[in-house]
Amino acid sequence: MEKDRRLIIAGNWKMNKTVAEALDLVKGLKRNLIQVKELDIVVCPPFTALSEVSREIIDSNIRLGAQNMSEQSVGACTGEIAAEFLKEFLVRYVILGHSERRQHQEESNALIARKVAAAHAASLKPIVCVGETLEDREDGKTEAVVEGQLTGSLSGISTGQAKETIIAYEPVWAIGTGKTATSEQAQDVHAFIRSKLESLYDAAVAKQTRIQYGGSVKPVNARELMSQPDIDGALVGGASLDVRSFSDIVNNSIWPPNIMLSLVIGFLTFILVVICAILMVLILVQLPKKDAGAGLAFGGGTAEAIFGAGASTPLAQITKYCAGIFLALALALSALNAYRSNLGDRLLKQEAARQAAKTPTTPATEPAPTEPPTVTPSGTEPETGETGASAEANQPEGEAAETPPKPTPATKPNPNNWFS
Ligand code: PGA
Repeated sequence: MEKDRRLIIAGNWKMNKTVAEALDLVKGLKRNLIQVKELDIVVCPPFTALSEVSREIIDSNIRLGAQNMSEQSVGACTGEIAAEFLKEFLVRYVILGHSERRQHQEESNALIARKVAAAHAASLKPIVCVGETLEDREDGKTEAVVEGQLTGSLSGISTGQAKETIIAYEPVWAIGTGKTATSEQAQDVHAFIRSKLESLYDAAVAKQTRIQYGGSVKPVNARELMSQPDIDGALVGGASLDVRSFSDIVNNSIWPPNIMLSLVIGFLTFILVVICAILMVLILVQLPKKDAGAGLAFGGGTAEAIFGAGASTPLAQITKYCAGIFLALALALSALNAYRSNLGDRLLKQEAARQAAKTPTTPATEPAPTEPPTVTPSGTEPETGETGASAEANQPEGEAAETPPKPTPATKPNPNNWFS
């Protein structure tokens, strides 16, 4: 369904993926999702993989998020990461107040509110998580708990900042359990959150703020959830760790064109199975003689019925047509599947060619970069003029006008970069 708010699908990788695994995952996502322009795609790897993943997605439609940050900007905070450090890797989003942190690190609403303020001060977009436990829900306290977390976590946040904040409603009982809230349950709480945003701020904030759903989002339930009027995206945990399932969640959230292709393939596959069953029955009823056995059924008699010069009986005629339809469908399906799986690669090549055509030719005297690329602290003089363009390429669509100045990490051109 058409929504005013742009959908945002974010993958929360949690404490998963080494650098090598993270690169594999993000390369697959780039290939599968390069054609997606309809929504914002965000990946939130562990801190240790931010640098490599950032370089990998710099020219793509995938944006980078972090899973947490400190409320402090610098200083004696052992083990903490400040917002400015995240910006060095072109991080644009940061998950705050996830229920796992509320539970295991005992993060309070007050602390989360300070982190939200620190994120805004650094022009990062916070994804603020709220959600009730099973006990809360069974005691009828869902709205009270969600309201308390929302109000507490946004304490001190201005109207302008609230519009740039993303809320993730994640019922704790649905996280990593395989139990998804029904689309009605989720929609009810989302509508409630929107009404609270209106009372905390104003109608414009309520209308513009994106509210994601999180908790066992999978390819099979993504479309139904995203079609709810107040659900503006998903925060995906387990299913974001696999290229196919995260790509399917993104694709299933879009209507059409990718869904259309999947539906056509699904429909044709169903017809193929039906025709195949009919064909089997037809062949078996045309056994040349009683008890002749399947060997004979699939031997000369069948070959004659299907490929013979002239089918003598009506049954043999029908068999012939069914076999023809079966072969045509099988060919069409393999072509469509090949088209679907090669789509990403072809689009990547087209995009690479487009970027190459735009890049001015390097003078023959200038040596080509040989060092591996590095991301260095902002403020450091870049060694080439590529930085601005790269940052621009990772700029979310539709945000340019509202987004405060972007971080300006100094990046060297990546010799292995897809587009350089
Ligand atoms: P899940 O996790 O999709 O594995 O349930 C969601 C989350 O914790 O953000």
